[in-house]
Amino acid sequence: MARRPETLAAQALHRIDVETGAVIPPVHLATTYARDGANALIGAHDYIRPEGPTQAHAAALICALEGGADARLFSSGLAAAAAVFATLPAGAHVVAQTKMYYGAKKLLQSLETKGAIVLAFFDPDDPDALARAVKPGATALIWIETPANPLWSVVDIARAAETARSAGARLAVDSTSAPPCTTRSLDLGADYVVHSATKYLNGHSDVLAGAVVTRAKDEAWQALCDHHSLTGAVPGAFEAWLLIRGLRTLFVRFERQSANALRLAQSLEGHPGIAQVLYPGLPAHPGHAIAARQMTGGYGGLLSLRLRGGAKAAAQLAASTEVFIQATSIGGVESLIEHRKPIEGPQSPTPDDLVRLSCGLEAADDLMADLMTALERV
Ligand SMILES: Cc1ncc(COP(=O)(O)O)c(C=O)c1O
Repeated sequence: MARRPETLAAQALHRIDVETGAVIPPVHLATTYARDGANALIGAHDYIRPEGPTQAHAAALICALEGGADARLFSSGLAAAAAVFATLPAGAHVVAQTKMYYGAKKLLQSLETKGAIVLAFFDPDDPDALARAVKPGATALIWIETPANPLWSVVDIARAAETARSAGARLAVDSTSAPPCTTRSLDLGADYVVHSATKYLNGHSDVLAGAVVTRAKDEAWQALCDHHSLTGAVPGAFEAWLLIRGLRTLFVRFERQSANALRLAQSLEGHPGIAQVLYPGLPAHPGHAIAARQMTGGYGGLLSLRLRGGAKAAAQLAASTEVFIQATSIGGVESLIEHRKPIEGPQSPTPDDLVRLSCGLEAADDLMADLMTALERV
């Protein structure tokens, strides 16, 4: 019987352990796997790098949720991104956003400095800018991130896929802030979906991991798998097991986090201390119409506030909350707040009056009261 993604997630692909009947998958800590008298492997795995059964199980679940042909797990989200970049031909033309996760942007810029790639940036808030940045016949990769951390610019994935196809380029989507319970980029025409699984996929702020999911098992994917195996940026079995455990509740976590964020965004719009609330779920957000089309399971728990009092007010707000914890990262069950600019540095386009919020599973009334009290102190 075909099962819906919610069911696949809740039952972690319904893999009952054949030896014991355990309904929870075991964690396979073995680094190596035995062969029989004919030197044939007894099971499907031979060595922990590239993956053992627990890592393969987590990858298979993410692959199923994204509707992909195959997936690989990495030791971090940036290791997953690095694998996509590393398999490009030397000197490849790569198009990426001006406003995107600053770590991935730094990585791309460091590759350009070394001469490994040639970069062109486009403004994700200008719907026609991507087509202008692409060089038909020369661009090898279009890298988009939507909604993009921390300004939450929304990029039209289907349109970007169309642009990539007509230019002969591949489209990779960093979908960290829009996990498959809300956006399935491969269905919209992307070639790769990349995740920092550290965020929503695991969701409990206790695992560092990444994933790449592919639409097709082609030559480029084989090169990426070879890179994965040869460089060994793979997670341990326990991390992979925790990731499976986290994925089981992805849909309900995301639903609650989206509801909490929407309530905060709606309530904070028009607050005298706030110049702008950046949240794709608000009709006033420039990317709202696209987000409504491609984020079918909610707009997520991530929003940013721009404070009228500037950088000082932003720093004060982040230091004044009591329920929101002042810490970096996103997508966990606990709510976090962060003044972003000092983290990203002077080169970043993130304004210095911006505070990023990652809503968790707490009572919305507590989150609201916490922010209102903290805003009074600013
Ligand atoms: C959108 C996005 N992509 C990638 C990453 C990198 O992930 P990791 O910290 O797992 O390497 C992050 C981390 O914050 C992120 O927010």
